[in-house]
Amino acid sequence: MFFFKRRHNLLKSGILQGKTDIHSHILPGVDDGSPDVETSLQLLDFMAEVGYTTVWLTPHVMYDLHNTAAKLQQRYDELLSAYQGNIQLHLASEYMMDQGLNERLTTDPLRLGKEHLLVETSYMNPPAGLAEILISVWNAGFHPLIPHPERYMYMELEDYQELKSNGYEFQLNLLSLSGYYGSRPKLVAEDLLQRGMYDFVGSDLHHLHRYKYFLEHMKLTTKQLDAVEQLLENNAYV
Ligand SMILES: [Fe+2]
Repeated sequence: MFFFKRRHNLLKSGILQGKTDIHSHILPGVDDGSPDVETSLQLLDFMAEVGYTTVWLTPHVMYDLHNTAAKLQQRYDELLSAYQGNIQLHLASEYMMDQGLNERLTTDPLRLGKEHLLVETSYMNPPAGLAEILISVWNAGFHPLIPHPERYMYMELEDYQELKSNGYEFQLNLLSLSGYYGSRPKLVAEDLLQRGMYDFVGSDLHHLHRYKYFLEHMKLTTKQLDAVEQLLENNAYV
């Protein structure tokens, strides 16, 4: 006899209603996310439609992108003056752990919430001295929050366990569970979620193309849905 786990449509479950998103590329014209204010307004309307009431804008900051905090703040002010919807917006950043990070830690990092700094690596390779870089983030007074660990192709379970045992926190990309980023990130995300290793969840929304379709068709088991709901609740306290 076969048993099938019942799966629920995530959007129809209603768990996104009234929630906070902590990771998005909706700020216009600063990275590979929204190219202009008009697109940003469409993305915000989409986020409101699916239920979010608070959204953190977290543009990429990396060595060759020249996104200073002052420039991001200026774009943020432009977006705020154009936006007439009801979502509460906040500005932070997603920092690449590259050769420019140290300088930014001492100047003007845009933190996520009270104490977190969203710090990513390349998908294919870790930066030289990853452990030391993470310690320097701690020492600069921030709690490192690692986005989409399931997408780092070079990481194995022992690596995740070591990072967690050092006190670093993990943010799941919601659509990893749908297969949006491929089969490996999906399997890793399911495993880490089942092990209770995630602390938060983010949309990492860049463009509506494909994203909307995957979100609308995303189905989760009861257990996964409950786990994701808990992460969404954690987002309010980031
Ligand atoms: Fe991102």
